[in-house]
Amino acid sequence: MNIGIDKIGFYTPHLYVETKELAVARNIDPGKFTVGIGQEKMSVPPITQDAVSLAANAAHEILTEEDKQQIDFVIFATESGIDHSKAGAVYVHELLGINSNARSIEVKEACYGATAGIQIAKGHIALNPDSKVLILGSDIARYGLNTGGEVTQGAGAVAIVMSTDPSIMTLESPSTYQTEDIMDFWRPIFSDKAFVDGKQSVDKYLSFFQDIWKVHKQKTELELKDFEAICFHLPYTKMGQKALKAVIPEGTEADQERLLANFETSKQYNKIVGNIYTGSLYLSLLSLLELNTNIEAGARIGLFSYGSGAVGEFFSGILQPNYKDALHTAQHETLLAERKEISVAEYEEVFEDIVPAGEPTIELPVENDPAPICFSGVKDHMRQYVRKDG
Ligand code: HMG
Repeated sequence: MNIGIDKIGFYTPHLYVETKELAVARNIDPGKFTVGIGQEKMSVPPITQDAVSLAANAAHEILTEEDKQQIDFVIFATESGIDHSKAGAVYVHELLGINSNARSIEVKEACYGATAGIQIAKGHIALNPDSKVLILGSDIARYGLNTGGEVTQGAGAVAIVMSTDPSIMTLESPSTYQTEDIMDFWRPIFSDKAFVDGKQSVDKYLSFFQDIWKVHKQKTELELKDFEAICFHLPYTKMGQKALKAVIPEGTEADQERLLANFETSKQYNKIVGNIYTGSLYLSLLSLLELNTNIEAGARIGLFSYGSGAVGEFFSGILQPNYKDALHTAQHETLLAERKEISVAEYEEVFEDIVPAGEPTIELPVENDPAPICFSGVKDHMRQYVRKDG
């Protein structure tokens, strides 16, 4: 049975800051951010976007009425969830008008969550071949003003529909995964910002990738020559480049050229959006699929997922005939082109503008946000959302 990715949607807020401006404001050489870290722009979420509204906006653009009838499972992966009890998936299910005979849950393991969702969906579809599953990877990356991680912030969501006989990519088995209890990055319940041991996180990402890749090769007998491209979780684009460079000497000159060139394509969206945590790997896949001009059906794409804490996984997929026809490339080009640049001072103001904890009632200025779906405020401690298109 062929199971895999049938549709991919994406949303990022309408505001961004240039990382070279951020560098100047922080007395850092801009080359460190644009070359050393490899980030050019950073998406900035206004107060009217949260993990739920970002996810709903990402899914809104891809779902047909037929999809909404066929989806029987909504999996919402996030590490910037809005409630300790109720799943973000339930809000998105309602906002999108998905039929009521569906399961809706939230999963969490840092940036690995969406991959967990994809593998859970694969098992569900294997048992229920008529099912469609909606997987949402949605996050706001917050480290804080003037912190080492600041330039690696970002915000956005990816929405994936999985089914049998998918239009974009079938997923292969087996995949290879690993867990180790470490404190490289975490966010205690009381904090709206992440805590991070930056150097440890980079070292662990690299060692997870190398260890998992070694086991994956033994399990599958696949080598670099068998992959057209490898996409990575991209907290910042230099991170994926470091990981690829760690294994690339295993390949021939042609393998190295192909994988490095396709990595360049796979980082374009991430470079101008920032870290969207659990959606980042799938944003990189989207960048590769939408922006390449020469990758044909039948090509094998490798995917490396890493979530701090930490869980990692390597798996692969095969591109399907006419996969480009199933993508929403023009919409994403418009979404990214129509964003508005804000100054560092404005970004700092937006960053500090958060709903005060425990505020029972608040109304937010959704008229300032062009997104179709917004977080509109709080009423009696219940979050409210608005769909502007009815
Ligand atoms: P840092 O200490 O500010 O940077 O932190 P650095 O000193 O390591 O420099 C970075 C690079 O810039 C270096 O290159 C420098 O040489 C270069 P590298 O040696 O790495 O190749 N550089 C320059 N290049 C050009 N021109 C210049 C210049 N100056 C220096 N003038 C760090 C960097 C990533 C640690 C920090 O930003 C951070 O803590 N970020 C957050 C954590 C993170 O993103 N970790 C990544 C792995 S963990 C992960 O991916 C999971 C995560 O997504 C969370 C989750 O799972 O939920 C984070």
